[in-house]
Amino acid sequence: MTDTTRKEPFEGHKKLERNVTLLAAATLLTVAVGGIVEIAPLFWIDNTIEKVEGMRPYTPLEQAGRDIYIREGCYVCHSQMIRPFRDEVERYGHYSLAAESMYDHPFQWGSKRTGPDLARVGGRYSDAWHVQHLKAPRSVVPESIMPSYAFLAEAELKVADPAANLTALRRVGVPYTDADIAKAGADLIAQADPNADAGDLATRYPKAQIRDYDGDPTRVTEMDALVAYLQMLGTLVDVDSAAAQEALTKEKGR
Ligand code: HEC
Repeated sequence: MTDTTRKEPFEGHKKLERNVTLLAAATLLTVAVGGIVEIAPLFWIDNTIEKVEGMRPYTPLEQAGRDIYIREGCYVCHSQMIRPFRDEVERYGHYSLAAESMYDHPFQWGSKRTGPDLARVGGRYSDAWHVQHLKAPRSVVPESIMPSYAFLAEAELKVADPAANLTALRRVGVPYTDADIAKAGADLIAQADPNADAGDLATRYPKAQIRDYDGDPTRVTEMDALVAYLQMLGTLVDVDSAAAQEALTKEKGR
């Protein structure tokens, strides 16, 4: 006696595989269901990134430094994302959290590392070291192949319309307040000029480092902006604090 109960599903599949139209329709249905399950929830959740305490939009000066970083192609040799592997964490520090690049437009994660990762370079060296290194890399790291950017110390920082930059970033989701935008021009200069009145800059941008960066307090240069940006990298979120650890656990749990 043959086993008809076993033969039945095989026959059904044979029919599906031999009928192109039926196979195409069934394939489409399967892919559509998978697609909806993956894509549809994204329309109902506000954010795919877990908020982490300490992360804030960049100050106008840091943002200007970031623009110089992009203009000079620093990303061609440097990444800004520490991967969660032991060798990376031991060399660069705590691995990067998604929230730490949430205000980056465009992000600077990168995958090319001719030089080291810079995601947590902030505070690792003094301002004077950065200035010297950017002016003449081989004077501090003899084997360095990094190009010299000495001209940055001579170039006066010129940002055509700081307020417009922040407005554009606000349109793509960076939560700059009306006060941030109104004071953008003043903030830009005040952060790098020890003699200027920084006003409530530090309240609106917690952990903002207000000082002369390039060793020339008489003017604000592109070097000031770039070093301000580098010294901020990786310093906003206290990755070892309890709150950050909690967010991390949640991030892992997803
Ligand atoms: C041609 C590749 C290249 C480019 C372009 C480049 N760098 Fe580097 N960078 C390196 C290399 C290699 C090192 C490691 C040797 C050294 O410290 O100079 C380095 C080191 C550094 C360091 C020290 C990092 C650490 O943890 O020790 C900083 C900061 C840095 N670069 C910033 C920049 C900035 C800012 C720019 C753009 C203005 C830039 N680099 C452009 C190759 C590059």
